Amino acid sequence: MESTLTARDRVGVQDFVLLENYTSEAAFIENLRRRFGENLIYTYIGSVLVSVNPNKDLEIYSKAHMERYRGVSFYEISPHIYAVSDNTYRAMRTERRDQCILISGESGAGKTEASKKILQYYATTCPVTDHLSTLRDRLLQSNPVLEAFGNAKTLRNDNSSRFGKYMDVQFDFRGAPIGGHILNYLLEKSRVVHQNHGERNFHIFYQLLEGGEQDLLSKLGLERNAQKYQYLVKGCCPRVSSINDKNDWRTVRKALTVIGFHEDEVEDLLNIIASVLHLGNTQFGEGKNGENQITTETQLKYLSKLLGVDGAALREALTHKKITAKGEEMISPLSFEQAVAARDALAKAVYGRAFTWLVVKINQSLLASETISFFGSSSVIGLLDIYGFEVFQHNSFEQFCINYCNEKLHQLFIELTLKSEQEEYEAEGITWEPVKYFDNKIICDLVEGKHKGLISILDEECLRPGEPSDISFLEKLEDTLGGHAHFVTHKLSNGKTRKAVSREEFKLIHYAGEVNYSVNGFLDKNKDLLYRNLKEVICQSNSQVLSQCFHREEVTDQKRPETAATQFKNSLAKLIEILMSKEPSYVRCIKPNDAKQSGRFDEALVRHQVKYLGLMENLRVRRAGFAYRRHYETFLQRYKSLCPGTWPNWQGRLADGVATLVQHLGYKPEEYKLGKTKIFIRFPKTLFSTEDSLEARRPALVLTLQTSWRGYRERAKYLRIRQAVIQSAWRGMISRQKARRRRHAVDIIRKFIKGFIYRHYERCPENEYFLDHQRFSFLMMLFRNPPKSVLDKSWPIPPPCLTEASEHLCRLCMRNMMRAYCRRIQPEWKKQMEQKVVASQIFKDQKDSYPQSVPKLFVASRLNSEEFNLKVIQTLGNDKVKYGIAVTKYDRRGYKARPRQLLLTSSFAMLVAEAKLKQRIDYATLRSISVSSLSDGFMVLHVPSEDNKQKFSLLSPLLSHPLSPPTPSLLSSGPLLLSVPVCSITFAVARGKEGVIDFTSGPELKVAKCKKGHLLVTAPKLNP
Ligand SMILES: Nc1ncnc2c1ncn2[C@@H]1O[C@H](COP(=O)(O)OP(=O)(O)OP(=O)(O)O)[C@@H](O)[C@H]1O
Ligand SMILES: [Mg+2]
Repeated sequence: MESTLTARDRVGVQDFVLLENYTSEAAFIENLRRRFGENLIYTYIGSVLVSVNPNKDLEIYSKAHMERYRGVSFYEISPHIYAVSDNTYRAMRTERRDQCILISGESGAGKTEASKKILQYYATTCPVTDHLSTLRDRLLQSNPVLEAFGNAKTLRNDNSSRFGKYMDVQFDFRGAPIGGHILNYLLEKSRVVHQNHGERNFHIFYQLLEGGEQDLLSKLGLERNAQKYQYLVKGCCPRVSSINDKNDWRTVRKALTVIGFHEDEVEDLLNIIASVLHLGNTQFGEGKNGENQITTETQLKYLSKLLGVDGAALREALTHKKITAKGEEMISPLSFEQAVAARDALAKAVYGRAFTWLVVKINQSLLASETISFFGSSSVIGLLDIYGFEVFQHNSFEQFCINYCNEKLHQLFIELTLKSEQEEYEAEGITWEPVKYFDNKIICDLVEGKHKGLISILDEECLRPGEPSDISFLEKLEDTLGGHAHFVTHKLSNGKTRKAVSREEFKLIHYAGEVNYSVNGFLDKNKDLLYRNLKEVICQSNSQVLSQCFHREEVTDQKRPETAATQFKNSLAKLIEILMSKEPSYVRCIKPNDAKQSGRFDEALVRHQVKYLGLMENLRVRRAGFAYRRHYETFLQRYKSLCPGTWPNWQGRLADGVATLVQHLGYKPEEYKLGKTKIFIRFPKTLFSTEDSLEARRPALVLTLQTSWRGYRERAKYLRIRQAVIQSAWRGMISRQKARRRRHAVDIIRKFIKGFIYRHYERCPENEYFLDHQRFSFLMMLFRNPPKSVLDKSWPIPPPCLTEASEHLCRLCMRNMMRAYCRRIQPEWKKQMEQKVVASQIFKDQKDSYPQSVPKLFVASRLNSEEFNLKVIQTLGNDKVKYGIAVTKYDRRGYKARPRQLLLTSSFAMLVAEAKLKQRIDYATLRSISVSSLSDGFMVLHVPSEDNKQKFSLLSPLLSHPLSPPTPSLLSSGPLLLSVPVCSITFAVARGKEGVIDFTSGPELKVAKCKKGHLLVTAPKLNP
């Protein structure tokens, strides 16, 4: 906004808040007039948009205009309906809060046009996918359909909405429209049967007659002449110059298809429209017996066909009524007037419900698909286009409801604007004086109060037994509400004012002005009754649409339906609840004249609207505190060039920057306040002088900007060039490096191949690289994988030039490993080894069982300590048993086998049986020991034959331990001769007498005396 402030003198101020004389209504209207004269129809009061109907097409709604307002801050650009739309949309997206735009104003002030402009703005500027474009089209196309069925030409507006509309547009997380929902309020049904002079019925009737194809009209039994239909001739105005019914018919038919109506449904809907026209032409007359009867048979025929009901039943229902008296049902004929009223009631009911059905169907087609709304959260922008405050010559029930609705909306408006203003001051920590405004709660209570409210009294009167009438209702009102400051009747008023109210009227002093309401028809309209038998007939209809409009349960349902006023009151309460839950924006529409003329500004008319729209109050509230407020960041950004301290950039806290700036600008303390996030400027002139300073500073700023820009551009160019040079140098270096590496690799490969070819030649320049490489590889291989164990005899094959060196290395390596191995051996293992060496010297290749004995370890004794006999041990004295083993001893004569223990000490061996020492053999006397070469365990100890006592010795100690013998112990004890015969051992039995033991191979070990008197030992062969 600030950017255009210089033009303010020519076209007034773009925000009324900046009006110097803000309390003057004249100044307010003058500002509106001046701007209107320049075709500037939009002006703000803070965030509220005031729109004056231009009554002509202005070139301000193009796509280019939409783009100008898209994403631009509200105050940056001249006021527009698109700025409000965009601001609301951005608030919804950034704050993730549901929004609503409340459009209000008198009939013909441009509410519907404004709501259409907002919808078009969203349809054009919001992101949309192919899938969602269908929805967008449906959203847009819902307008012509609803307007055809719900709008009509009135004296004030050729396209007057005769119903209230609240539409929610649902957006997904990306800000794309994904669904919509419409709530409709109180359709003016009375228009279906009656229109004032110069007014028309709903557009759809004329559209059908003008645009419908001849076939269609014939099917519906209609003629292309609106004059022929009683319901269309009341206003004497079938044609309107500003309306092209034929074109509109095409638009509506197309829109119905786009929205997704079935052909059957459209047919049913048109049947209903045609049936309303036929109902209007249905006449009653006196029958032969003086009874009231239908005189237009053709109409009845078409009615039964179009409504899908039984003709006779309909005839009966249109001329009779069913009454229940004392539990009994009675049929009574209707008088002429009653029949006409019943017919009109039917026409209104059928049309009204078809309209509601239409809204339900549109809502179904606008429903956001579950998959779309499932992803991420969605937000909503609501658009309220509802009837404005109405004052006619004769005001009835409809005006009463409409004006009540406006009272409620005004209350909401005052509450929300005041509340939000107050909240802002509180949030910013600014103290302010509350502003006095007219609280219209008293009027709202007067209408909707629980027991003493107008609606309650009306309902009570409708339900009262006896003969309630409109006049009795008026009397009841006088009784209950007499004395209320906002309620006047003829009887209650004094002499001066009495003339202003007729006897059948009551006057309400609304916030917007005084309105006289005629009570005629209040009761009937409130009851909105359709005779039960008529309802029964329609409920039996085989028309799809009608059966959805009239439910069969309605007839049987004993519950009294809610009255029209209560229904309206409740739906209004719900609407207020919906609006309260959203962040509101306001568009206040004003019409400049009553003649729908462009360029005419009727001051009196505008003043009246300014008054009842509460615009002056709105401005006062807005100005009570501060005329102008802006976030520190925005303020500083705009005016920082005016102070050397803040130019070109402020580095510290924003609040400090703003304080520095205003100090430099010379603001007086009473002129401004610093809040938490915003600066508040009290007087417009302070802002204007700041703006003027900015204007004066602009040329210098432009110069600075130009210089900086040029400098920046040149520098950027230089940097680009520099970057390009560095890049090419770097790439060259990398490429050269790569080429060098590649060349080197080629050389090596070539040398290798050549060397391989010459590998068997003497060392020469051709093969020296290859040979060196071979040598190096062999040595490195040895270095990396040397033999790991002494038992591992493997050794890699060396290249010919390293054969000798390899042998040396192999030996060295083995020796090293062996040394290391020997160092690691423990003493007990060494002893074992020594013993094994001795055993090997004696038995290797001599004794068949030797190889099996090698892995077995030598042990200290084969007897457990408990097997030694204590007595024997004691007899030994100092000699210690070094080794003990259980043996079988064979006698020299007879070879009797006896179990014994053979115990060895350091100087003798002995044989023990239980506790008895049977024989002792000193090692010194032992001549030799004999064993066979087989796998048996026999051992023969030879002692000198003279020593009779000592004579013995055929032992079989080795059966279970072949050659784990005591032999080493024996051997280590003295010099013994050990002989290993192959097949027999001879020993001395007595002097001159010898015994022989024969050894032979057999399947198993066996000891037996043979025929020759020898001992025959058979032993299995263990090794080949
Ligand atoms: N911004 C506008 N530009 C051009 N013409 C406009 C504009 N706003 C309204 N009009 C004209 O005024 C007429 C009445 O406007 P509109 O139907 O929006 O009034 P309304 O406030 O909805 O009235 P009602 O309460 O009777 O429905 C429109 O048909 C159109 O000709
Ligand atoms: Mg309208």
